[in-house]
Amino acid sequence: MQSYAEALELFHEWTQSDSLRRHAYAVEAAMAFYAEKHSADTLKWRVTGLLHDMDYEKHQTMDEHPYVGVAVLRELGYPEDVCEAILGHGNHTGVERTSLMAKTLFAVDELAGFITAVGYVRPTGLEGMTPKSVTKKLKDKAFAAAVNREDIRNGAEDLGIELPQHIANVIAGMQADATRLGFSSS
Ligand SMILES: [Fe+2]
Repeated sequence: MQSYAEALELFHEWTQSDSLRRHAYAVEAAMAFYAEKHSADTLKWRVTGLLHDMDYEKHQTMDEHPYVGVAVLRELGYPEDVCEAILGHGNHTGVERTSLMAKTLFAVDELAGFITAVGYVRPTGLEGMTPKSVTKKLKDKAFAAAVNREDIRNGAEDLGIELPQHIANVIAGMQADATRLGFSSS
């Protein structure tokens, strides 16, 4: 398995936009939370979150994303389960999410984006954010309209976790890396 520093360097090479970088860090933070919860390989789960949209800035079409990125990762010798999870996070690939890591990546991806959007409209950012306030925003169809609510519900269901608990977990994971995600930490 590659080191975190190597993965980060690769990620920075491919992704320049601040908002896409922050999205990747948010997904990474949520993956770290779940890796610790399951006593899984935190480095591997973090790297999977960090790199899942690695190619998205340059290759946004469904024909290319996330295939281009995964081809690069395979060439660099990244573990197959990392590649599979990244392929599986896009519904359009048809790649089944069989591992817990793959299911978790899918379950946190859209939700992390949504929680970021909720954080931006709160004066205190992520601090003090409750699952209830996030659930309320999920019901508001006009808010962060691009975020697919069905993916969020399906992701939690496939993980076998109640949505409010899942939301609480992703908030906690993101709070742990708040500064990096563009929120102040205190
Ligand atoms: Fe993503």
